[in-house]
Amino acid sequence: MSQKEPIILGIESSCDDTSAAILKNDTILSNFIAGQEVHRKYGGVVPELASRAHMQNVLPVVDSALKESGLQLSDLDAIAFTKGPGLMGSLVVGTSFAKSLALALDIPLIDVNHMHGHILAHFIEDAGDSKPNFPFLCMTVSGGHTQLVIVKDYLDMEIVGTTLDDAAGEAFDKAAKMLGFEYPGGPLIDKYAKEGDPKRFIFSKPRVDGYNFSFSGLKTAILYFLQAEEKKDPDFIQSNLADLCASIQFTIVTILMKQLKQVAEDYKINDIAIAGGVSANSGLRNALTTTGKQLGWNTFIPKFEYCTDNAAMIAIAGRYMFDKQMFADQSIVAQPRVPFTHSKG
Ligand code: KG4
Ligand code: ZN
Repeated sequence: MSQKEPIILGIESSCDDTSAAILKNDTILSNFIAGQEVHRKYGGVVPELASRAHMQNVLPVVDSALKESGLQLSDLDAIAFTKGPGLMGSLVVGTSFAKSLALALDIPLIDVNHMHGHILAHFIEDAGDSKPNFPFLCMTVSGGHTQLVIVKDYLDMEIVGTTLDDAAGEAFDKAAKMLGFEYPGGPLIDKYAKEGDPKRFIFSKPRVDGYNFSFSGLKTAILYFLQAEEKKDPDFIQSNLADLCASIQFTIVTILMKQLKQVAEDYKINDIAIAGGVSANSGLRNALTTTGKQLGWNTFIPKFEYCTDNAAMIAIAGRYMFDKQMFADQSIVAQPRVPFTHSKG
């Protein structure tokens, strides 16, 4: 443990949100996120447009985070940034900014794995009522990843299951696009599902080996189903929107929960967490809480603002690396694909 409570600036720019946060020990003093509306009309993130928007946003979000925290640049003990995984052009902006600022301030630079950030967000002081105990099982469900991770310690984690094709967030977003929603449609499916019947339309579930997931079959099944129904009734989607959303959400959540339960049972783990953008989904949150009550789990769902991409999670992950002096040097580069396991520490 370090002597004083470290003050860390976190910077996140892996996809389409530019975010900066200031963390003192495990308390978030500020967490600013600039989203990018520009992608909505394209039905997905356009990498070139994302990098340009990061360029515009990175300085203002860092500035806002500092102002809100009431601190000065000279108060910072380290800068933690997302090295990957993510979009190369997006990562480069955050990485270059973090390197330059760390060099100018002569303070340590910490390269954080985005997925570790999602998991370690649980340890932010106000993330939830209580903290998971090691080892715990965390299902990280985002736009780019769907993983089942055994978390043995802050910096010691093992992936036991992953998606073989689309991520859960991608399944939500692609289904939403077929229903006519703008990107990202996941939150809209969630919204309309609240009024619908989850058992009205039945979609088949994939058969996959081990603890893995697959969502591409569901995507195709929804597409063919909608095409067939629209031939009979061109207004099919509009007339059945809530039931469609509820049924699609129910199917995705059922697929996720099945594997989560299996790993929890096989590894005899009782502390179960979810993380990543899709953990904002109310169907998944309810399913986790209900199943947890039935099976005697302690369940952990981070506060909403720490579920989707944010820099607070990068700062807290950086804080545990700070304690172990796991610093990067100026030769560090952004990496769209990063090994999940730490090579040091
Ligand atoms: O973690 P995140 O912010 O970014 C990535 O690292 O990918 O996750 C974004 C994903 C998107 O696919 C978005 O549609 C999904 O999370 N998402 C949701 C909800 N809120 C965000 N999906 C379903 N229901 C939600 N309420
Ligand atoms: Zn993410």
